[in-house]
Amino acid sequence: MPTGAEAPAGGVAEYLATRRGEVDRALERLLPPGDAWPSILHRAIRHSVFAGGKRLRPILCLAAAEVLGASSEDVLEPACGLEMIHTYSLIHDDLPALDNDDLRRGVPTCHVVFGEATAILAGDALLTHGLGVFAAYPKGEKHAAAKIRVLETVVEAIGTRGMIGGQMADIEAEQETRPTAELLTRIHENKTGRLMRASLLCGAILAGGDDEKLAAIDRYGTRIGLAFQIKDDLLDVESDAATLGKASNKDAAAGKATFPVVWGVERSRALLSENIAAAVAEAQALPRGGGVLPDLARFIGARRS
Ligand code: IPE
Ligand code: IPE
Ligand code: MG
Ligand code: MG
Ligand code: MG
Repeated sequence: MPTGAEAPAGGVAEYLATRRGEVDRALERLLPPGDAWPSILHRAIRHSVFAGGKRLRPILCLAAAEVLGASSEDVLEPACGLEMIHTYSLIHDDLPALDNDDLRRGVPTCHVVFGEATAILAGDALLTHGLGVFAAYPKGEKHAAAKIRVLETVVEAIGTRGMIGGQMADIEAEQETRPTAELLTRIHENKTGRLMRASLLCGAILAGGDDEKLAAIDRYGTRIGLAFQIKDDLLDVESDAATLGKASNKDAAAGKATFPVVWGVERSRALLSENIAAAVAEAQALPRGGGVLPDLARFIGARRS
């Protein structure tokens, strides 16, 4: 396991695969087993968590910690807390009352398999469990102050002034015939960008980064967060369900405020490239040339799912 932040010898694909394995093994250990009472709920949670997923938020957390010289040992469990919260947001995002999607991570959505009531509760449970992980890890008195800061950072990022605010505005914007570019950016920065920024900041805080480093990592996070959702909007238009593991060609029909709808595909691609380039430049100014962070930004721009 690399503890330095040097660019991975096997390239970013190998880095992602290695980290994904570490995160999945830790998630397996942190989540209740599928036969624990009430087993239907734990099976629903595991259905959605272990169906797949890129594990990008925990990987960003681990990568930010590495860049600031920390070993992944102190960061692995909090990184998993971020994935639990992300998966909760997906389960709820797919519900009939929100985006009404049947496919996620290549399998039927939680509510399709387990029913809406169980899916709502599985999401609630993953949110609660994720927050509990931040309170519990890393173990040891010396981490107490950093853990409180991590908890505050995540709670702020996923609340009404962050992810949930963005999700509300996303739903409201379905009624807007002509969403403004300003509203669109605000939705994307909140519904998607805030958790990504918080993921990076968690790693940086637990690594003991100073305010200057945290601010630089946050600028990188703002760029990749927006870029990630622009790419998500583009993939909806340009890809297919078999590749994505979720529905495609749905956003415009659902009246969603997306980059292709507001800016057109060509301009959206250009805005994606601009944000990736800015993220790479921010990362390269960090210690160790930003380690794997420039490559992770490029991956976000080039990803196919
Ligand atoms: C999907 O996120 C939801 C958005 C914020 C666009 P991801 O594309 O990271 O989903 P998984 O975790 O890989 O399934
Ligand atoms: C989801 O955005 C954002 C959150 C889950 C917070 P989307 O609705 O665009 O994500 P997909 O396309 O369903 O993955
Ligand atoms: Mg949505
Ligand atoms: Mg959706
Ligand atoms: Mg989408």
